[in-house]
Amino acid sequence: MILKFLLLMVCLTTSKSQSAFGRRKPLETLYRWKQIDFDFPTPQHRNMAIQNGEFNQINVIPLGVERWKNRAFISTPRWKKGVPATLSSVPIAAQEESPLLSPFPSWEWHTAANCTGFTSIFRMSIDHCGVMWALDSGQVEAFETPRNLCPPTLFAISLETDTVLARFPIPSEYVLQNSLITNLVVDSRDAQCRDLHVYIADAWRFGLIVFRDSDASFWRFSHYTFYPEPLLSNYTLHGLNYQWSDGLFGMSLGQYYLGDRTLFYHSMSSSLEFAVQTSVIRDPSRVNNAVDEFKLLGESRGLRGQVSAAAIDRNGVMFFNLISQDSIGCWDTRKDYRIRNLGIIAQNNVTLVFPNDLRIDHEVPQLVWIITNRLPMYQFNLIDPNEYNYRLLYMEPNSAIEGTVCQIY
Ligand SMILES: *[C@@H]1O[C@H](CO)[C@@H](O)[C@H](O)[C@H]1NC(C)=O
Ligand SMILES: *[C@@H]1O[C@H](CO)[C@@H](O)[C@H](O)[C@H]1NC(C)=O
Ligand SMILES: *[C@@H]1O[C@H](CO)[C@@H](O)[C@H](O)[C@H]1NC(C)=O
Repeated sequence: MILKFLLLMVCLTTSKSQSAFGRRKPLETLYRWKQIDFDFPTPQHRNMAIQNGEFNQINVIPLGVERWKNRAFISTPRWKKGVPATLSSVPIAAQEESPLLSPFPSWEWHTAANCTGFTSIFRMSIDHCGVMWALDSGQVEAFETPRNLCPPTLFAISLETDTVLARFPIPSEYVLQNSLITNLVVDSRDAQCRDLHVYIADAWRFGLIVFRDSDASFWRFSHYTFYPEPLLSNYTLHGLNYQWSDGLFGMSLGQYYLGDRTLFYHSMSSSLEFAVQTSVIRDPSRVNNAVDEFKLLGESRGLRGQVSAAAIDRNGVMFFNLISQDSIGCWDTRKDYRIRNLGIIAQNNVTLVFPNDLRIDHEVPQLVWIITNRLPMYQFNLIDPNEYNYRLLYMEPNSAIEGTVCQIY
């Protein structure tokens, strides 16, 4: 198996060096897992958890990724029974290929009997002051018999002290029946992260929820551009055909410029990208008075142009996961959103099957972090525990775009 992998790597490297891209080395694998395992207090705890059904390894899937200093954070939503912890850390510099996940900030947060602890964390977004904003759906067993145990909740967690600073349940008036609150992006601007906002996507009821930290208030925008496209809701991936009608999902923030900042966004089951100025959505008085502020960008990405997560680096280049093409794309946000201006920086039908989350850290130089997780195979119980199913990948954005249409001259 290892030998096969090495041979594959040699083939990939060879074909790359023969291409026009020269020495470009876009994507590195930090870790890969056949199955996810956790750092239980003792082997007896682990055995007990397996015996009583609290830990069923095949049901654990990594979803969200973030990075702060010497740690990466990974969420494992409780979509099926047997997920003992829902948010973990791994060191950036582990020696093993498949490290154990350490429940974060501690095991206690994952076993709370009431809604003070974590229920099912989907994704995280870290501000530049070292606070992790984690989105908890409050729901368990979404792929079996969904139960809403707690309201969807935003947690603020300090990464300097590893303590939960606050929890903000989303008020019920902004959570509709069958809402699926899936993704978030934090907008922190000044050095102290004052005037902080979090933008939250409701993929199933097509809403954009805004959280304002200064007074812990929420409001919600609806717009027809948050809907899925019918034909893009019909997916075919590695021989699997499935239908997902997911609306607003991917969000990425442009640079702060002349007192404003652009939020780029798209539905998951869509081939189109849109934009709105954050000055509009940060103003709750615009909720029913902003229909013309949400704008289509350029061209469609075409059939199989569905994108999950996206993020923009300090140079203004957007990176995005092309979930039906086993690929990572790029776009220089200064250019028109045209097919000819969209590049592919990595494509691989083994290592990039369903790139799900994508985040860019706050380091110098910045790195792009990607989780691939074969989500459709997980949904249909087709995960093969003998294969590497889950990968944590990273790349340096400037070298990743070298030789592509996204290169900055
Ligand atoms: C919730 O559980 C925590 C411990 O996990 C406890 O300290 C707290 O009092 C509980 N709150 C309620 C409302 O039961
Ligand atoms: C959905 O995709 C399948 C597989 O490609 C195809 O056979 C079917 O016709 C598609 N459905 C629609 C409505 O386009
Ligand atoms: C991946 O692509 C290669 C080359 O195009 C092809 O031979 C192989 O069958 C593909 N594998 C899968 C799992 O799709």
